[in-house]
Amino acid sequence: MKILFVCLGNICRSPMAEAIFRKMVQEKGVETKFVIDSAGLSGWHEGEAPHEGTVQTLQRYGVSPGELFSRQITAVDLKEFDYLIAMDDDNIRGLEKLGVKPGPQVFRLLDLVEGMKNKNVPDPYYTGDFEEVYRLVYSGCVRLLDKLLVESGVSDV
Ligand code: 4NP
Repeated sequence: MKILFVCLGNICRSPMAEAIFRKMVQEKGVETKFVIDSAGLSGWHEGEAPHEGTVQTLQRYGVSPGELFSRQITAVDLKEFDYLIAMDDDNIRGLEKLGVKPGPQVFRLLDLVEGMKNKNVPDPYYTGDFEEVYRLVYSGCVRLLDKLLVESGVSDV
């Protein structure tokens, strides 16, 4: 399964999701089942490392940021990846502009988390609250991994 996390700048939220999801997948011992990456709808930060708020928050939780560099989403990504996981409504609208329709394989990460009114991961580039983003992205990634493992028959949890 090829999973692409998508946000606007690919320096705050989607790299955090990529790092958290990669660690969860490794901890379950299912890394051979997944290709995991992230990209931004904009190319504003092309080639840059993640925001220091993302790096510091990941490190505080013992998650390796790994080798992350911002890149803009490409037409090839839209064909190659099975799942495009967006952080907010704006990202969904951005994907729609690229000709992608929301559906079972294109949705917001927090759509998977029950009992939440706001399904958007707030943008810490503006809010400064990377801690909140970590908690939200973590809870979304737990649901995402369970869902994908069940759907693919890897796990019956
Ligand atoms: P991200 O956050 O989409 O979570 O990576 C942003 C990063 C940069 C900008 C906006 C959002 N920016 O305007 O440069």
